[in-house]
Amino acid sequence: MKVQTVATYRSDLPVDDDHPYRTGAWRPQHTEYDAWDLDVIGKIPEDLTGTYLRNTETAVFQPIKRYHPFEGDAMIHSITFGGGEARYANRFVKTEGFLAEQQAGRALWAGIAEHPSNAIAEHGWGARGMLKDAASTDVIVHRGEALASYYQCGELYRLDPVTLEDRSVSKWGIEYSGRGVAAHPKVDPHTGELLFFNYLRDDLNLGYGVIDADGELSTYVEVPFPGPRQPHDMAFTENWTILNAPSLYWNVEARAAGYFVNTFHEDEPLRFALIPRHGSAAEVRWFEADPTFILHLTNAYEDGDEVVLDGFFEHNPGVWGGGSSNPKYPGFDALAIEAMDARAHRWRFNLRTGQTTEAPTSERCSEFSMINGQHAGRRHRYSYNALGVPGMFAFNGLLKHDLDAGTEEVLEAPPGVFLSEAPMAPRDNSTAEDDGYLLTFVSDVPNDRSECWVLDASCPSDGPLARISLPERISSGTHSTWAPAT
Ligand SMILES: [Fe+2]
Repeated sequence: MKVQTVATYRSDLPVDDDHPYRTGAWRPQHTEYDAWDLDVIGKIPEDLTGTYLRNTETAVFQPIKRYHPFEGDAMIHSITFGGGEARYANRFVKTEGFLAEQQAGRALWAGIAEHPSNAIAEHGWGARGMLKDAASTDVIVHRGEALASYYQCGELYRLDPVTLEDRSVSKWGIEYSGRGVAAHPKVDPHTGELLFFNYLRDDLNLGYGVIDADGELSTYVEVPFPGPRQPHDMAFTENWTILNAPSLYWNVEARAAGYFVNTFHEDEPLRFALIPRHGSAAEVRWFEADPTFILHLTNAYEDGDEVVLDGFFEHNPGVWGGGSSNPKYPGFDALAIEAMDARAHRWRFNLRTGQTTEAPTSERCSEFSMINGQHAGRRHRYSYNALGVPGMFAFNGLLKHDLDAGTEEVLEAPPGVFLSEAPMAPRDNSTAEDDGYLLTFVSDVPNDRSECWVLDASCPSDGPLARISLPERISSGTHSTWAPAT
């Protein structure tokens, strides 16, 4: 392996740190590398062409009061494949907050588990206000640029997807009504459009917008909601965009005291807003479903009179309201997939009758699913989901779900080995939905090393076709994407 160290950044984290999200699977790294001629066990497929990107939440400084992994700074990992070879790069996203804290040598913003008045900085971001816009939640690629997003609504930070060179903030000439962009904007590969939603703390509306293939804002709509809501994900079909108003939202009494605590309203239905992609607020169709909170959706498509939506139903959404099994570092119980009891679920919205039908599609806990991106907004058969580690937010397995056959295939990682959200990369000239590869970054804590695994998407439980060494063990994180070279 050939490695060039690009930069190492300041950190004041203690050597004997014992925070569960700054050690083990979540041990942060503060050095940026470029690496090529990577050591490989097995063989990198010659027909794998494109870039796999992952965003990781990286602790840099000790918090003002309390650290939460969702506020770690964005470090993006990029591995680019072509001609049977791969090269790797990792970079911090140079957000305004990251740069200011590097200059100060300490944390300046209050964490999401703190009262906003703890912040030292004079201004902040996010739907709850006074946060650091960490840009550390998702990474997608639109118009040849990687965009890093933040789940509490922040700017979209642009990078070159291969070199991770900083390209500053994407504004598209607008300020999104001052709201930033929520966690998961979506790219429709069939039209080149980017769909997004956004919200402010006390908004009664959710903002919904479309950026066209030329990078221009073509639609922006104020969608009237039942009250201030903070949905995490969205979906789309050929003609419809699907937003949701979850049954879990900020507790009114806590909000009055300046805190942000979620309460599950078990008698309040989950509501879905279906809006024509370029429609108006008057054209929104509302559908009601069983109460829950949705973290992630898988995909949606049209089927006659119905819109079909796949995602994850939390059978224990109340866990987001609190709960702790670690008195020294409380409040993390909600982060485990097992704790929220998330299972794959299908909703069907009948546009003729206005009725919703819904049913689980799996009895097994999983979340963070990916599909073959060529099927986004179109009918899909397969999803590739992450399996969670009991008691913490980390992934130790992959599940391939055949929704037509109702079968599941599992790859379990060895103890102490953690996987990432695993996107599907279609093989060059692929001929079937699962004709391609799954990619996952692997953090092997016992052996203190990281690899990128390439798996056959048609039979991932057979294990990796290639294990590619990385320069340093990387941290766990949340979201990732596959960007074909085209
Ligand atoms: Fe997410």
